[in-house]
Amino acid sequence: MLPTSLVGLEEVRQPVKERLHDVECALLGMVPSGFESLDEVGEYLFSRSGKLFRPTLVLLSNGVEGTPTESATKLAAIVELLHVATLVHDDAVDHSPKRRGMPTVNDRWTHQVAIIAGDYLYSRAVIEITALGDIEPIAILANTANQMTVGEMRQLILHDGLAFTRQDYDRLCECKTASLLSAACELGAMAGAPTRREQLRAFGYHLGMAFQIIDDLLDYASPTEVTGKPRGQDLQEHKVTLPLIEALPNMQPSERSAVEAVFSDPDPSPESIRAIIDVVEARGGLERAREHAGVQAAKAREQLASLPENEFVSALYMAVDFVVERVG
Ligand code: IPE
Ligand code: IPE
Ligand code: MG
Ligand code: MG
Repeated sequence: MLPTSLVGLEEVRQPVKERLHDVECALLGMVPSGFESLDEVGEYLFSRSGKLFRPTLVLLSNGVEGTPTESATKLAAIVELLHVATLVHDDAVDHSPKRRGMPTVNDRWTHQVAIIAGDYLYSRAVIEITALGDIEPIAILANTANQMTVGEMRQLILHDGLAFTRQDYDRLCECKTASLLSAACELGAMAGAPTRREQLRAFGYHLGMAFQIIDDLLDYASPTEVTGKPRGQDLQEHKVTLPLIEALPNMQPSERSAVEAVFSDPDPSPESIRAIIDVVEARGGLERAREHAGVQAAKAREQLASLPENEFVSALYMAVDFVVERVG
């Protein structure tokens, strides 16, 4: 049973429920290194799954023509492996103490261990995808991994966060999130519905944009017990995301000064962060961000319009609803 914060995900997974179980088994088989210290981290990381949203997208995209293929299971596991590798590094970069309701690798061990573990998982993904013997999926995932890294760097080196524009933000979301969701859909389609490849890639792109906008909104709006990640972590790390970008032009000078104070404080207090969250909400930032997510969701749905009617395509529509309605 999924937690109630993930209502809707069960229906999205329905057509590929059994195969997702195979994906989890394949994933567990990909992680062991035979070296105790790495295996301890690997076992810890995979002791609790996330939403498995990307593997679900691989499997659903694979079935849109009604002919799912065996090879998609492995591709789905590899995509999740790459995802987890990026999360381990992301948490170290973001100094985040919690993920999936558990201490992060950087918190439980050290930053060094997180770098090594992320590299290990990433290189395992490369080994597994290479073993499939087909150059195109390798090229897609290599390009995705490369874009995600560029996205993380873009975020890190922001010098004047408050000058960050919508365009900058969109580019960041494209790199760090839409790239992997679009690759997941494209890889699934390539293996089972090759004529739909472009369409599903575009679907995954817009879904990924909406996914990151909602993730950024939940960082403001949703309690830690629901997301499994600390609330307000983005402000804590001086990360400017869409709710703040949208709220800033509507703020009073005193409110803007309070934001500036948080951004120039290396360790802002929970109270000051709480106050910014309230201002961003009061100045319409959350609402506007939700609207932008809605626009991306509509673009994602448009890509599905000419697909055949079957349970896989219906589940992809539900995936869009899940992304915009999720609370965790
Ligand atoms: C978290 O992704 C990283 C983002 C792109 C926002 P998920 O929210 O899919 O994380 P898990 O896999 O369910 O933990
Ligand atoms: C997405 O960005 C992270 C990756 C694409 C790896 P965030 O930094 O917002 O993700 P969370 O909130 O830590 O999951
Ligand atoms: Mg993060
Ligand atoms: Mg986030």
